[in-house]
Amino acid sequence: MGVKSMGVVSGTGIALVVARRLQEGDIGGHLRNAFDAFPYPEMAERVWDAWYIEGGKREGKPYKPIPMVNFKLRPDVAELIVCANFVEVWLAKEGHSGPIGINYLEKIQAPRLPEILGAMIAGVDVVLMGAGIPHQVPGVLDSFAAYKPASYYLDVEGAESREFAMVLDPASIVPERFIERLSRPAFFAIASTNVLAQYLSDPRRTTGRVDGFIMEGPTAGGHNAPPRDRSKFNERGEPVYGEKDVVDLRKMRQLGMPFWVAGSYAHPEKLVEALAEGATGCQFGSIFALCQESGLRDDLKRETKRLAFSRQLDVVADPKSSPSGFPFNVVQLSGTMSDPNVTESRTRICDIGYLRHAYKTDRGTVAFRCPSEPVDTFVNRGGKIEDTVGRQCLCNGLMATVGLGQQHKWGQEPPIVTLGRNTDFIHDLIDNEQGCYSAMDALLYLLQEQLQTVGVRAVSKSRV
Ligand SMILES: Cc1cc2nc3c(=O)[nH]c(=O)nc-3n(C[C@H](O)[C@H](O)[C@H](O)COP(=O)(O)O)c2cc1C
Repeated sequence: MGVKSMGVVSGTGIALVVARRLQEGDIGGHLRNAFDAFPYPEMAERVWDAWYIEGGKREGKPYKPIPMVNFKLRPDVAELIVCANFVEVWLAKEGHSGPIGINYLEKIQAPRLPEILGAMIAGVDVVLMGAGIPHQVPGVLDSFAAYKPASYYLDVEGAESREFAMVLDPASIVPERFIERLSRPAFFAIASTNVLAQYLSDPRRTTGRVDGFIMEGPTAGGHNAPPRDRSKFNERGEPVYGEKDVVDLRKMRQLGMPFWVAGSYAHPEKLVEALAEGATGCQFGSIFALCQESGLRDDLKRETKRLAFSRQLDVVADPKSSPSGFPFNVVQLSGTMSDPNVTESRTRICDIGYLRHAYKTDRGTVAFRCPSEPVDTFVNRGGKIEDTVGRQCLCNGLMATVGLGQQHKWGQEPPIVTLGRNTDFIHDLIDNEQGCYSAMDALLYLLQEQLQTVGVRAVSKSRV
């Protein structure tokens, strides 16, 4: 049996990550190489010049504000999004011939078209999408592969379902003479129920072909689908998942489409089990979030690893914190947004806006509001005050978590750390609290059963 692995770029908010890395002076020069590879140099230079600061911005100075992504896309914003998605996929593909995917959240729709276009220009192999019903994505991939305009209906509160369409013509961004060919990537929908997988496997329900599914359970890091029964919470305020929320793998096999399973599978035996159940493979997140190469800020990674090693790591499925309305697995860590004192001392601000919700105004236009923005602003925009309770600014928090947090007059944006509920793998990879391991160690560990057949040795513990 062949062993194949695929790396997945987190595409959510990637334009902001790139814009800030450029303002840090492109440490290591990786972005420069990727910008040089963009097929339309004039446009790449425009984006580079708009954001790059030689030697990096002065410490303590804030990052330049990024224009918010609205219904009508500003050309400079579209160009930044295209370039950023290109750059990150290009870098992920550098130096090997393995496949690379990119994942997005269906909830964040406004940047959808330029982000997919940018990733496709870099030759992304798979687009993955969850946190919603991504039935419009296959059609976008087909249109862009034919170098034709694509459209995407925006979910707008108070509007009909097909009232507001975003449209993007690839030729308006990159003239055709600069593009040799755009291949149609595969599309994997991230789902948490058999019902959703069944629905999306029906070509009458989607705008094109879905090629596979990632079946993600509620213990996975990041956002998770809420349980079927949304009325039950445990004493810690976490949503309670029941029997009905467990994916029936027999039904998945019956669908006859490739599927991967995700959520607490980071153990060689779990992988063997999943394969025996008919899965094509597993998707892992937490084990890579804690490896040496991950972008998680060093101090946060060190402390999270220490807690995981000493079996003190506490991860809470917080149904409130994410403005998306989806439960979000939050590591309980002092100095981060999980600490009520930290949250209270933060001044609410919405200056990134990826997780804003679209709504229809009295004038019939599309506007956006975020339950994590200042309460008065949200209410003035027609939001309900109760929706603001317990909300965190994930846009700013997650940027701080990867060391790119904004500096305000009142201080630095605090981070928020997400991880899955099971970190038992740590004991197989390190043998003391300060131990560390590489992404390759993690892969060799996870794939040890499969690799044994080709004579590759299992991972050795603790590379301090
Ligand atoms: C730090 C972190 C960030 C994640 N970000 C995303 C994301 O942006 N998009 C996504 O689809 N899944 C995301 N995930 C979920 C992973 O893709 C994966 O499904 C999950 O981590 C698997 O479960 P595990 O955490 O038990 O390994 C994230 C997971 C972690 C740990």
